Order: sequence, then structure tokens, then C-alpha cells
Amino acid sequence: MASKEEKTLSFIPIILILLLDSSASAATAGQEAEALLNWKASLDNSTSLSLLPSWVGNSICNWEGIACNNFESITQINLTASGLRGTLHALSFSSFPSLMSLNLSHNAIFGTIPLEIGFLKSLQILDLAGNNINGSIPHEVGMLGKLTILSLQQNNLSGNLPTEICMLNSLSVINVAFNSLMGSIPEAIGNLSNLTVLALQLNNFSGAIPSTIGNLSSLKEMYLMGNQLIGNIPPEIGKLKFLTHLGLVDNKLNGSLPSGLNNFTFLKQLHPMGKEWKRIHGYGLVGIKQRSIITRNNEMHDDKDIQLGQLVACTHSWPSPEWKEHIRWD
Ligand SMILES: *[C@@H]1O[C@H](CO)[C@@H](O)[C@H](O)[C@H]1NC(C)=O
Ligand SMILES: *[C@@H]1O[C@H](CO)[C@@H](O)[C@H](O)[C@H]1NC(C)=O
Ligand SMILES: *[C@@H]1O[C@H](CO)[C@@H](O)[C@H](O)[C@H]1NC(C)=O
Ligand SMILES: *[C@@H]1O[C@H](CO)[C@@H](O)[C@H](O)[C@H]1NC(C)=O
Ligand SMILES: *[C@@H]1O[C@H](CO)[C@@H](O)[C@H](O)[C@H]1NC(C)=O
Ligand SMILES: *[C@@H]1O[C@H](CO)[C@@H](O)[C@H](O)[C@H]1NC(C)=O
Ligand SMILES: *[C@@H]1O[C@H](CO)[C@@H](O)[C@H](O)[C@H]1NC(C)=O
Ligand SMILES: *[C@@H]1O[C@H](CO)[C@@H](O)[C@H](O)[C@H]1NC(C)=O
Ligand SMILES: *[C@@H]1O[C@H](CO)[C@@H](O)[C@H](O)[C@H]1NC(C)=O
Ligand SMILES: *[C@@H]1O[C@H](CO)[C@@H](O)[C@H](O)[C@H]1NC(C)=O
Ligand SMILES: *[C@@H]1O[C@H](CO)[C@@H](O)[C@H](O)[C@H]1NC(C)=O
Repeated sequence: MASKEEKTLSFIPIILILLLDSSASAATAGQEAEALLNWKASLDNSTSLSLLPSWVGNSICNWEGIACNNFESITQINLTASGLRGTLHALSFSSFPSLMSLNLSHNAIFGTIPLEIGFLKSLQILDLAGNNINGSIPHEVGMLGKLTILSLQQNNLSGNLPTEICMLNSLSVINVAFNSLMGSIPEAIGNLSNLTVLALQLNNFSGAIPSTIGNLSSLKEMYLMGNQLIGNIPPEIGKLKFLTHLGLVDNKLNGSLPSGLNNFTFLKQLHPMGKEWKRIHGYGLVGIKQRSIITRNNEMHDDKDIQLGQLVACTHSWPSPEWKEHIRWD
């Protein structure tokens, strides 16, 4: 505790110097190096003999996983699968005014997402997928006005999807799959006219699918399987003319399939115990002509037949490897 406070106090003179310094770029570089080294020092180095060995001295732009702009201010921190074990709380987010991409996916980061994440005013990509982060997604994420990709899947996040996310109109991808999020899908999600991927599967979202989903005019992929969603599929989904992947299995949806989806191939009659189903288990989606819908465990009423031949033929075309982990092949 005492040493933490000392560290914080030792920052104050540096900040004062920075404020007085007329050479902004040099000052920023020093501040950024200090911030990264403080974070490195907070990480668990007991499992790795060489934790970020290049992170010494102050040529930060040559450090592993770091990229800078022409003013030697950090624009990317890119440390995917680097064996990092620790929290984000010793990372001074306010020290990175130029940071556009923070990619710390597939490490062993735990603890919560600090509210200070909102200081990253230039951030376009936030990828913290595949860690062990818990707590809720802070409302401060709504301050990241330039964000295009929000990747928080495969963590242990709880709480609601903050409505503030719906103000980020540059967003192209929201992936919060494989967490313990709950509450309803915000109606304001329909504001995100540039959204192409909405991945909410394998959480505990409840309530109805908001009809405003039909306003997501750029949407190509929507994954909602494995939640507690009720009610009917809003007919407005039929307006999504670019939609190629729609995953709805394992919810509590009822009613009929929207007529706008007529050209999709429906797989509702695949039964877990039936022989057709033997090929596929789990939460997958299956591309048939890259257009598919699975309605398992919902109560849908539709007469379309399954075209098993096509199903088998298309099983290799998964959109990303992570889906495969949840599929068992017989
Ligand atoms: C790990 O960190 C501790 C304290 O931060 C330091 O004393 C120790 O030398 C480091 N071990 C290695 C292998 O770098
Ligand atoms: C960060 O990763 C992206 C791909 O996700 C890559 O284009 C970029 O060059 C990487 N930057 C650094 C500094 O490793
Ligand atoms: C993060 O980096 C990894 C490895 O470079 C890459 O596969 C992934 O696409 C990056 N994430 C984003 C959102 O670009
Ligand atoms: C997050 O996990 C830690 C253990 O790693 C636990 O002490 C803490 O209570 C959890 N916080 C939340 C909000 O779940
Ligand atoms: C997620 O958190 C819950 C409690 O908040 C805990 O019981 C569970 O083990 C955690 N899951 C993982 C994968 O850490
Ligand atoms: C939405 O996407 C288009 C085309 O990619 C782009 O020109 C536009 O700036 C984006 N809008 C926002 C708010 O980011
Ligand atoms: C978002 O959508 C809601 C209605 O769903 C609307 O009231 C609100 O003004 C919109 N916000 C923005 C920032 O566009
Ligand atoms: C999911 O939400 C329901 C209520 O909507 C609740 O009863 C259940 O305990 C929740 N499950 C988890 C794993 O949080
Ligand atoms: C968004 O969707 C709702 C419900 O479908 C609709 O009433 C509203 O007019 C739409 N707003 C825009 C801006 O398209
Ligand atoms: C669907 O479920 C909702 C709420 O769970 C219920 O109010 C409605 O009557 C159901 N509709 C049909 C056609 O079963
Ligand atoms: C359905 O898809 C086929 C190609 O897969 C296309 O030729 C046809 O025009 C589509 N029909 C409608 C109504 O969109």
C-alpha cells in the first residue's frame, strides 16, 4: 500500500515538469515510457524469465508491441498472447493521448476494466478478448468517441451492456460474447448505423430483441445464441439487407420467422437427437450459402425444410476459429 502511494506521489513532480515543458513531444515520450514501465513492474514476472525484455531504456518506439507516430507518441500497444499476468489498474491511461489501438487479447489479465479507460480519446481499437477480466463494462467506454472495434469476448464480465456504447457511432464491431452479461439489449443500439458485427452470444441477456435492430443498416453478422431472449424475432430484421449470419439458438424466442428472411435457409427442424443433428452440437452457426439461421431450443413455427447436403458442404466456412471450439464433430 505504502509503496503504491509513494509511486503516485513521485508522479506529481513529473507532471508539473511536463506542464512547464515547452517541448510537448519529448515530454509525452517520457511520460509514456514511465507509464509503460510502471505497468510492466506491476505484472507477474514469476512465470516468465523474459517479460517484455525490450522494454528498457526510453526508446519506446522500438519496444516490443509498441508503435508510434512521427512525434514519437505511442499509437499502438499490441501485446496479444504475450503471457501477461496482472491487472490494468497500474496502467496510466491518461498518459497515452495518441493511442489508437490497445490490443491485449489472449493474456491472463484479471480484475476490472478501469474507469480511466475513458481517457483514451484517440482509441479506435480496444481488444481485451480472451483474458479473465471481471466486473462490469464501465460507462466511460462511452467516452471513446472514435472507437470502431470493441472486442471484450471470452472474459468474465458481468452487469449490463452500457447504453453509452450506443453513442459511439463509428463502431463497426461489438463483440462481448462468452461473458456473464445480463439485462436487455439497449434499444439505442439501433443508432449504430456503421455496425457490421454484433456478437452477444453466450451471455445472460434477457428481454426481447429490440425492433430498433432493424435500423442497423450495415449489419452483416448478428450472434445472439445462448441467452435468455424472449418474444418474437422483430420483423424489422428483414430490413437488414447485408445480413449473412444470424445465430439465435438457445434462447426463449417464439412466434414465427420474419418474412423478410425468406431467402435464408432455416434449420429449425434439426433436432439434437435426430440423425441430421449428429454432425453439429453446440452454439454454432452454419453457413449455407453463407446465410443461415438456427433456431434450436426456441419455439419457432416455420415449414421450411433442411437441406442437409448443403449443410455438410458448408461446414468448413466458419467465420472465425473461435466458433469451432464450441462445436463438437461426431
Ligand atoms: C520480478 O520482479 C521483481 C520485483 O518487481 C524483481 O525483484 C525480480 O528481479 C523480477 N524477476 C525477474 C526474473 O525479472
Ligand atoms: C498490431 O497488430 C496489428 C494487427 O492486429 C498489426 O497490423 C500491427 O502492425 C501491430 N503493431 C505492432 C506495433 O505490433
Ligand atoms: C489483436 O491482435 C491479434 C494478433 O495480432 C489479431 O489477431 C487481432 O485481430 C487483433 N485485434 C483487433 C481487434 O484488431
Ligand atoms: C473479480 O475477481 C476477483 C478475483 O480474481 C474477485 O476478488 C472480485 O470480487 C471479482 N470482482 C467482481 C466484480 O466480480
Ligand atoms: C467468473 O466469476 C464467477 C464469480 O463472479 C466465478 O464463480 C467464476 O469461476 C469465474 N469464471 C472464470 C472463468 O473465471
Ligand atoms: C461510417 O462508415 C463510412 C464508410 O465506411 C464512413 O465513411 C463513415 O465515416 C462512418 N461513420 C462514422 C460515424 O464513423
Ligand atoms: C439513440 O436512439 C434513441 C432511440 O432509440 C434516441 O432517442 C437517441 O436520441 C439516439 N441517440 C443518439 C446519440 O443518436
Ligand atoms: C441469468 O438471468 C436469469 C434471470 O434473467 C437468472 O435467473 C439466472 O440466474 C442468470 N444466470 C446467470 C448464470 O447469471
Ligand atoms: C429505428 O427503429 C424504430 C423501430 O423499428 C423506428 O421506429 C425508428 O423510426 C427507427 N429510427 C431511425 C432513425 O431509423
Ligand atoms: C411469446 O412470448 C411472449 C413473452 O414470453 C408472450 O407474451 C407471447 O404471447 C408469446 N407468443 C407466442 C406466439 O407464443
Ligand atoms: C435469393 O438468393 C438467390 C441466390 O442465392 C438470389 O438469386 C435470389 O434473387 C434471392 N431472392 C430474394 C428474394 O432475395
